[in-house]
Amino acid sequence: MDKIVILTGAGISAESGLGTFRDEGGLWSQHRIEDVATPEGFARDPALVQGFYNARRVQAAQAKPNAAHAALARLQRGWPGEVVIVTQNVDALHEAGGATDVLHMHGTLAGALCGACGHRWPAPDEMKVAEPCPACARPTARPDVVWFGEMPYFMDEIFAHLSQAALFAAIGTSGQVYPAAGFVEEALMGGAHCVELSLEPSAVASRFHEQREGRATETVPAWVDEVLARVE
Ligand code: APR
Repeated sequence: MDKIVILTGAGISAESGLGTFRDEGGLWSQHRIEDVATPEGFARDPALVQGFYNARRVQAAQAKPNAAHAALARLQRGWPGEVVIVTQNVDALHEAGGATDVLHMHGTLAGALCGACGHRWPAPDEMKVAEPCPACARPTARPDVVWFGEMPYFMDEIFAHLSQAALFAAIGTSGQVYPAAGFVEEALMGGAHCVELSLEPSAVASRFHEQREGRATETVPAWVDEVLARVE
């Protein structure tokens, strides 16, 4: 049965109250990327970076999944083939909305990583500066999120899924950050039908066969209904 691959970005969590990055007033208008989302920024001022992620971790933990997250979970349950959700988001709203098989290519706020030994463990709400690693005890704990200049997670697996996709949907992403912005090219090479669902056309909108403009809580459930209506 046809495989569906879905890429989501911050726009799918916007109506759950979590800020996007590049919209008016977004996170990158409040913080400089090089200060809070790079390894160099973390080395320069770990307190600023831990504070940035502590605030986002608490906010994300209080947020509720919205109708778009729930609709994707419904698609996974109702579609006879595999539905893979690849998300750039570090919140856990896909899982909270009932989705499984979610690949967090930029990591998760709920995860902690030791910069020295690579050990991973559940992050505390408030991660301290020089928090000791539970495995090697060195003061090198960091949020398990992928910063600019670092390699996103699950890339081999994601490219394999994209090459096998019959249907590719990009939801709530501005298409300005690679490798995610290039996923539509991989899907096209594999012969997938590509649809973009976003409030505004992304930087790569012209590469999609279809555009569904609007808020995710409206466009995604309607799109899922259409896809599931094809299931004989
Ligand atoms: N419904 C649907 N789409 C929305 C909504 C909404 N309610 N609100 C905003 N959007 C769309 C915007 O039109 C935009 O296309 O979501 C997108 C948000 O774009 P960005 O803020 O750039 O977020 P994203 O594409 O996820 O950023 C990718 O950049 O900074 C890095 O690691 C960070 O994962 C992030 C990556």
